[in-house]
Amino acid sequence: MTPEEVLAQVAAEVQACQKCELHYARKYGVPGYGPPGAEIMFIGEGPGFHENEQGKPFVGAAGRFLDELLDSIELKRSEVFIGNVVKCRPPGNRDPKPEELVACDFYLERQIQAINPRVIVTLGRFSMSKFIPNAKISDVHGMAMRAKGRLVIPMYHPAAALHQPSLRATVAADFANLPHLIATAESVPEIEVEPPEEKSAPQQLSLF
Ligand code: URA
Ligand code: SF4
Repeated sequence: MTPEEVLAQVAAEVQACQKCELHYARKYGVPGYGPPGAEIMFIGEGPGFHENEQGKPFVGAAGRFLDELLDSIELKRSEVFIGNVVKCRPPGNRDPKPEELVACDFYLERQIQAINPRVIVTLGRFSMSKFIPNAKISDVHGMAMRAKGRLVIPMYHPAAALHQPSLRATVAADFANLPHLIATAESVPEIEVEPPEEKSAPQQLSLF
């Protein structure tokens, strides 16, 4: 299968998926969106209200801020892939549960394999934890790391900055540095990643 075919198949499977309880309240699954040849993949947390209504990622308030951030570094949405660790909306925008993250990783992994991006930008703690378990986002945000064979740059979730205005400048500065990090991506060494502790699901403020 071509990368395009893999993405289309994942997108179709997500709409019918019943691998975790998040399918019960789903209107539309949100598989993610972007070209199969994207060099950069942004991975958020999960669909919110508007994403569930439209089947598209980051179309609410957090999405508008993400658009501003992309604009600020002259990246177009159409040239990046934007997805999430869970493809169906957690009711009331609660945190995804560990078993939901595990179930849905089946789709995200296939997307990553198909796109094979040069850089993965994680937005928020849940997608960061997929690559860098146990890291604290306040310690590592905006830093390029090589983990699980991927160049990963963890960022605060844009919704976090909407809720904590003091984070806004930090997020903007991290984005401003992205082009430089991407340009030098190949020189970043692999980090030693400690195995996750039992029940180390990240603690999380309500982001929505
Ligand atoms: N927040 C996310 O993490 N993902 C979306 O798609 C929208 C808001
Ligand atoms: Fe399936 Fe993922 Fe939706 Fe759960 S969140 S039902 S695993 S697509």
